[in-house]
Amino acid sequence: MGCQYFEPCDHGADTFTVAMPKFTFGRGCLAEVGARAAGRGMRRAALFTDPYLADGPYVATALDSLKAAGVDVAVFSDVRIEPDDATVEAAAAFLRDGDFDGVVSVGGGSSMDTAKAAMIYALHPAPITDYFAPPVGAGRPIPGPLLAHIACPTTSGTGSECTSVSVIRLNEHNCKFILGSPHLLPDEALVDPACTDTLPANAVASTGYDLMCHALECYTARAYTRWDRIEDPLKRPLLQGANPWSDLAAREALAIVDRYLARGIRDAGDHEARDQLMWGASLAGMAFGNSGTHLPHAMSYGVTHYMRDITTEGYPVAAPFVPHGISVVVNAPAIFGFLAEGAPERHLEAAGHLGAALGDATPADAGAVLSERLVQLMKATGAPNGLAGVGLGAADAAAMAASVVRQRRAIANAPRVADLGQIESIYSAAVSYW
Ligand SMILES: [Fe+2]
Repeated sequence: MGCQYFEPCDHGADTFTVAMPKFTFGRGCLAEVGARAAGRGMRRAALFTDPYLADGPYVATALDSLKAAGVDVAVFSDVRIEPDDATVEAAAAFLRDGDFDGVVSVGGGSSMDTAKAAMIYALHPAPITDYFAPPVGAGRPIPGPLLAHIACPTTSGTGSECTSVSVIRLNEHNCKFILGSPHLLPDEALVDPACTDTLPANAVASTGYDLMCHALECYTARAYTRWDRIEDPLKRPLLQGANPWSDLAAREALAIVDRYLARGIRDAGDHEARDQLMWGASLAGMAFGNSGTHLPHAMSYGVTHYMRDITTEGYPVAAPFVPHGISVVVNAPAIFGFLAEGAPERHLEAAGHLGAALGDATPADAGAVLSERLVQLMKATGAPNGLAGVGLGAADAAAMAASVVRQRRAIANAPRVADLGQIESIYSAAVSYW
């Protein structure tokens, strides 16, 4: 079944690429950052983090390790959760003025994505939208290499340590868009699950939904063989579609969510569960970093575009704020219900990996089976009940859909390509599930 999905197509790609940073995993590995930076020839590093982590133990470990290895370091701690172009410009100015030869990021996706974007604009200055894809940006390729980057995640969801993308909110549009380039791939990922020991339950939940959707999206993405064959290998898009590599990592990540998400949320002392979720997040990052996400991530940007008067308990962020993973998962049951007919076997298999009881379900039941399993999982882990749970409703569907159709490549990476009216209908179906 898996092989059939990658059947050759006329004019379709017949090769795929896997890009990965050097990857280190395990409790305590954050303390290796100094030796690793020095080993790469770094003499002066910029460390990017957010204000909530800046005075905490993980940044202290990284700073001690860098100093012990003889690497001079200066800290930029003004990373905002959900970084915007103003954050990126401030971070780029810090980098430009500091005579750095390397970058270390310690934090969640926001810190890693800010570090990536800051390097672009520090080394290759340009108006902010130049490197974003049309229609909002000029689609200019990032001209050349950035600084050496060691990414150290402290949450178990984003996978940014393993990807060549950075997600930034463009204030002019009040919406998130993606910077993508092979130059954005960190050189090393240092993934220390002990950094999640202090993560509050709701952050484990929302980042867990993110990792789950990364895995579901790469497993159900349009097959790489159904994207056009690339004549210039250096111009292969990062969103190259599902492929045997992303399948491998996505399947395991889904099984980890099934086994460990509820446990990891319930008990911060359950190291087995938290370690597994960190491993699953990295696996999902390795997977979607080489396949691309699709409609659930694209549609999450409609939620964060139109959210209002909403905050999430435990996040020290002013309203309006919906954590990324929540903005993705609230639409997921409705989206997969719609997409399943584009790749029914894949959706059924994905539901099975997520722990759905398949019984005598056939591919025709795939959408319903996967949606039902997602709803079950959301209920069991305290997720908001659809869009209504984050303060949005059917009256917002048209505006959100109009915002989302700009995410062209992501929409085209789905197994069934939704038009404006279909995206609006999916939002209407996502208002509440139980
Ligand atoms: Fe994500």
